[in-house]
Amino acid sequence: MSVAVATAASRKTVIAFIRQFIGVFVAHLTCSGVVFANPAGSSEGLDARDARRLRAWNAFARVSHSYTLASAMARDILTDYYSRRAPEYERIYHRDDPVRQREQHAMADEIGRSLKGRRVLEIACGTGYWTQFVAENAAHITAIDSSPEMLALARAKNLPFDRAKFCEANADNLNSVPGEFDGCLAMFWLSHVPRSRLAGFLKQLHERLLRNAIVLMADNVFMPGVGGELVQPENSADTFKVRTLSDGSAERVLKNYFSESELRRMFALQTADLQITIGQCFWRLSYHMESPPV
Ligand SMILES: C[S@@+](CC[C@H](N)C(=O)[O-])C[C@H]1O[C@@H](n2cnc3c(N)ncnc32)[C@H](O)[C@@H]1O
Repeated sequence: MSVAVATAASRKTVIAFIRQFIGVFVAHLTCSGVVFANPAGSSEGLDARDARRLRAWNAFARVSHSYTLASAMARDILTDYYSRRAPEYERIYHRDDPVRQREQHAMADEIGRSLKGRRVLEIACGTGYWTQFVAENAAHITAIDSSPEMLALARAKNLPFDRAKFCEANADNLNSVPGEFDGCLAMFWLSHVPRSRLAGFLKQLHERLLRNAIVLMADNVFMPGVGGELVQPENSADTFKVRTLSDGSAERVLKNYFSESELRRMFALQTADLQITIGQCFWRLSYHMESPPV
């Protein structure tokens, strides 16, 4: 009897695996080139080619019972976009705008000060622009990103190799990153997490941090006319920016904007010392993980 149950269970597992594999494979074939990290999104507002791809993606995700994996494919597409953008990425930090520069300096200052002496996990480090301010004074920083092109530029900064380590890893799977961390930095990452996955992302992040860890995050405040048109497909909780690279190619990239009250709700469990600053260009926040009970 128990052998029959075990055989039926393993047959189910094999079938589920094959369905997922086919789903991901076909999703990859049909969707590569479309930056659209919302498998449940409507095709409203897309051009005919992207709408066709999105419908195919949804269909195969349904067939494969694999929205999670189809969504993982979408994240690969985000990585692909940033890989192509890597050589021109840091231009955003050199804009001739005194307000932006002032807010950037304030963030760099706070990061350097707050993470001093800490063992830091940095999520989606990109070219290592912010890593450099941490590496000056942190005990150690492990900076992860999914784009090899971004990481190559980060490594080329020649930060002290005994204190700064760059790893190719997925922010959706922080368990794959070795180390113990009492500091975390996530700059311009939260806006790329689908709203449906924010709680899950924060949960797995917090599970990787020690009880006394400090967390710092920052991202963009929405400014009409800056950084491409903002679109929100019907029935989608997420918004997308239409971004143009210097080769003229345009991509639709998941980019969410948060109000202060949304941020407060999102980080409600960290209210004890949650600090949020909303600037003209950027918001930033910091909090400590809970102390262990005495
Ligand atoms: C807006 S950039 C931020 C880079 C850097 N933190 C900064 O502020 O300059 C977003 C970064 O997320 C990376 N990325 C995209 N998907 C990722 C994923 N699933 N896991 C880790 N990094 C990812 C991209 O390669 C890119 O470097």
